[in-house]
Amino acid sequence: MDPATTLEAVAAGDGLVVFLTGAGISAESGIPTFRGPEGYWTVGSTHYAPGDLATRAMFAQRPDTVWSWYLHRRRVCADAKPNAGHEALVAIERALGDRFRLITQNVDGLHRRAGSSRTWAIHGDIGTMRCAAECTHDLAANPIPVDEPPDAWTDARRTALTCPRCGEWMRPHVLWFDEYYDEAWFRFDSSIAAASDAALLVTAGTSGATNLPMQVGRIAAARGATLIDVNPEPNPFADLARRTGGHACTGTTSEWLPRLARAFAGTT
Ligand code: APR
Repeated sequence: MDPATTLEAVAAGDGLVVFLTGAGISAESGIPTFRGPEGYWTVGSTHYAPGDLATRAMFAQRPDTVWSWYLHRRRVCADAKPNAGHEALVAIERALGDRFRLITQNVDGLHRRAGSSRTWAIHGDIGTMRCAAECTHDLAANPIPVDEPPDAWTDARRTALTCPRCGEWMRPHVLWFDEYYDEAWFRFDSSIAAASDAALLVTAGTSGATNLPMQVGRIAAARGATLIDVNPEPNPFADLARRTGGHACTGTTSEWLPRLARAFAGTT
C-alpha cells in the first residue's frame, strides 16, 4: 500500500493522527538545520564549539553572548516565511479537526504563522522569553526589535531583557542541552500520551537526535500505529517505519506533505 492509500484508510477511521516535525520542514524557508552541512551545530561559531551556546551553563557565564546568538537566529526566523510543507499541515488539521496533533521541535514559529493551532512546541519558541531565575513561570514576548543588530548592547536592551519582578536576566524560552523536558512548558506528558493513542505518526524533517521525539516514535510503533517518515536522508525514523510495515518517503517535506494532504482530502 502506498503512503497516500494508507492516509485515506486512516482518514476514514477515527484514530489520532500525530505529526512530528524537525528543522528539515523549515530548511526550505531558509532557516539552517542543526546537523546539516550548513547547520547551526555543524558550523558553530568562531569562538565556541557547536551547541555550547545552547546551554544554561553558557547563559550563566555569558548571557549577552548567548542572547546575541538567539537574537541573530530570531531575525533569521522572522525573515523566513512558511512553505508548502507548513501549509499542508494546516490543511490536514482542517480536515481532521481534533483528531490532529502537531509536535514540533522547531522554535521558529513557522507552524503557528502558517495557521496550525493544535501544536506543541516541545523545544520552546525563539520569539518568547522568561525569567532566568524562574521567579515566575510567566512567558513574555521578546520586545527587542527584530531588525536591531544582535550585538547592539545598549542600556535600553539590557533593561528590556531584565526581569521586571526580580531584576535578574530574562532568557530565551527554549530548551537547552543541559535542561529537561517538562509538561508545563514543553508538553512532555501530552506528547507521550499522543504517541500512545496515535493511529498514525508522520515524522517529517528530523534526524532523530533528541530524546522525546525518539520516545514518541518508539511508543507509537509499539502501540501499533502506522509510521510514515518524510526525509531526503536516511534516519532512525525511516528505519523504524520500514521495520514496522510503514512508509519511508525519501524526499522533501514540500514535495511529500502536500501529497499527503491531498490524500486526506480524498483528492490524490
Ligand atoms: N525536507 C525534509 N527533511 C529535510 C529537508 C527537507 N527539505 N532538509 C533537510 N531535512 C532533514 C535532514 O535530512 C535531517 O534529517 O531534516 C533533518 C534535520 O535534522 P537536524 O538538523 O538534526 O534537526 P532536528 O532533527 O530538528 O534536530 C532536533 O536537536 O539540537 C536540537 O533543539 C535542536 O530542535 C533541534 C533538535
